[in-house]
Amino acid sequence: MQFNRTLITAALPYANGAVHIGHLAGVYVPADIYARYMRLKGKEVLFVCGSDEHGVPVTIRARKEGISVQEVVDRYHALIKRSFADFGISFDIYSRTTSAIHHQFASDYFRAMYDAGQFVEESSEQFYDPETGHFLTDRNIRGECPRCHSLGAYGDQCEKCGATLSPDELINPYNAETGNALAKKETKHWYLPLDQYQTWLEDWILKQHKEWRPNVYGQCKSWLDGGLRPRAVTRDLDWGIPVPVEGADGKVLYVWFDAPIGYISNTKELCEAQPEKYGNWEKWWKQDDTRMLHFIGKDNIVFHCIVFPVMLKAQGYNLPDNVPSNEFLNLEGDKISTSRNWAVWLNEYLDDFPGKQDVLRYVLTANAPETKDNDFTWADFQARNNNELVAIYGNFINRALVLTKKYFDGKVPACGALTDYDKATIEEFKNVKATLEELLENFRFRDALKEAMNLARVGNKYLADTEPWKLAKTDMDRTATVLHVALQIAANLAVAFEPFLPFSSAKLKQMLQMDEAIGWEDLGRIDLLKEGAALGEVSLLFEKIEDNAIQGQLDRLARIKKENEEAAKAEALKNWRPAPVKEMTTIEDFDKADIRVAKVLDCQPVKKSERLLQFTLDDGMGGRTILSGIAQSYPDPSVLIGKQVLFIANFPPRKMMGIESQGMILSAVDADGKLVVTTVSAEVKNGSQVG
Ligand code: MF3
Ligand code: ZN
Repeated sequence: MQFNRTLITAALPYANGAVHIGHLAGVYVPADIYARYMRLKGKEVLFVCGSDEHGVPVTIRARKEGISVQEVVDRYHALIKRSFADFGISFDIYSRTTSAIHHQFASDYFRAMYDAGQFVEESSEQFYDPETGHFLTDRNIRGECPRCHSLGAYGDQCEKCGATLSPDELINPYNAETGNALAKKETKHWYLPLDQYQTWLEDWILKQHKEWRPNVYGQCKSWLDGGLRPRAVTRDLDWGIPVPVEGADGKVLYVWFDAPIGYISNTKELCEAQPEKYGNWEKWWKQDDTRMLHFIGKDNIVFHCIVFPVMLKAQGYNLPDNVPSNEFLNLEGDKISTSRNWAVWLNEYLDDFPGKQDVLRYVLTANAPETKDNDFTWADFQARNNNELVAIYGNFINRALVLTKKYFDGKVPACGALTDYDKATIEEFKNVKATLEELLENFRFRDALKEAMNLARVGNKYLADTEPWKLAKTDMDRTATVLHVALQIAANLAVAFEPFLPFSSAKLKQMLQMDEAIGWEDLGRIDLLKEGAALGEVSLLFEKIEDNAIQGQLDRLARIKKENEEAAKAEALKNWRPAPVKEMTTIEDFDKADIRVAKVLDCQPVKKSERLLQFTLDDGMGGRTILSGIAQSYPDPSVLIGKQVLFIANFPPRKMMGIESQGMILSAVDADGKLVVTTVSAEVKNGSQVG
């Protein structure tokens, strides 16, 4: 199939908070690299995005902040839109799903499917809050996790153990807002009969799209292997697009039904505003010479590979050609979370590191979670800036330009005879265009960036090896040739890095006074700058990032971690209920355990163990050693020394970490999971029995 244009979509971010580095690394930076690359290739492209303003996340945010939902989406839409623009994400349009055009379009889309009999109607029992009379979405239901038994798991997921859940699985489900226990009530909804598309999807994805990334293909396969079931596309909620059907009062379109339609309605909005530039919107969505790519994060795979394609297929729209989806980026070892404020927020980054958009773009691409989850650390951020951008790319550019200013009055010097070494160097970047294209076209952005960086390494090494600052003392002709070659490499770097580091490339082009006509197709040429051409003002392409800037970020994260721990503890205490009483036992059974009192003579962490404390006890019977897995609860175990504690004296001895433990110390489990050693309230003889 020959494609004449490419429609690139990037997942619409929820307008319930700012955009963070996880979103950027997963979706927006790779999508932007691709869009820029396509434009540089002179291709017809459209890069579409906007805010996802429906759904539960925005309503939760509104309640949390005590403002209306409209205010929430207005605030975050504006913030997100501005920070994307400042960061250089080159959307052709960034609109929103509360726009009139979108409401109309999504409503019509539903109606068209409804009229064509493409939904099934079904009534079912759903959780609702008897006090407020509201039905609850999965996210608004909380309760005890059936897997790890932590309290406060969500109806769709347990954040503690990561399990995917359905509300029916939660133990003692309650309304997250009111705390009320839930009841069930019958309600009618419209379902997309995914099961009817099973065979078609298997053919389309599993047979025809084997080239999709393994993570995407694998997730699709496991959904398909599990057998698709109808999925409700309406909800009982008062925030969203009303279901355009008789008798559907109080019901809105499910956010995952309307949001992807936002890609279409935003295209329509743009095309109608600028028809001369973008043409008719239908050409982007219905013509088969248009190729569509969805850039998303892994939690969006099922919606973009199964649900939305079924909607598109049903209405005769194009299907995506590829769905490049990334895994997740963590932050300093922990899962990024908007609700827990565990993130680096784009707007804050832009404030804290003004003018350093490209540094973040570089780090997020170099460390992109393309094949597995990755970790963002501030130490890595600083190292990549200082050791790669500054020390290699920046250093090379600076040397080439400063030396040209110094020896040749800022004009591109003449190229004399090339030595074998010059030729070998030039040889090294002759293929850079083909290599970059191959990688970019296969969405291998990390490797592509590495390739561009290698070119900078070649340049840096070239100057380090030829040492023009020494040559200048003896051989001005040779110096001229070396700097000529170096400047040509610099010009190539400006082009090669353009999709990745657009701000730096613009700056470098300015410094080199590069002809605007020079573009991607010229990559690999060594005549990009003309002999005698004057260079522009020279300044540093990248600057070192000092320790204090990094420390400031680490301090912020430490503060948030502490706040979160305190909030989690308060939440656990609030939700705590005693565990159910165990099944009845007998005095004889109880009597088998020999529980006694002992005094703690010493208590030390066990070397190389995160869990164990070693107790040295006076048990009134000559003393004993007991190991107990409570180290996490006692950062300073010396507080236990001198206390009288309870222990089980007749457990068979057990060796752990090479030490023999002779019994068990009794502890109570607190609401937040911390263990508290039980102590005796008044002095008794060591070795006395408890019963
Ligand atoms: N708002 C969703 C998220 O952040 C993504 C929506 S993508 C779209 O996970 F296709 F629905 F637009
Ligand atoms: Zn759990």
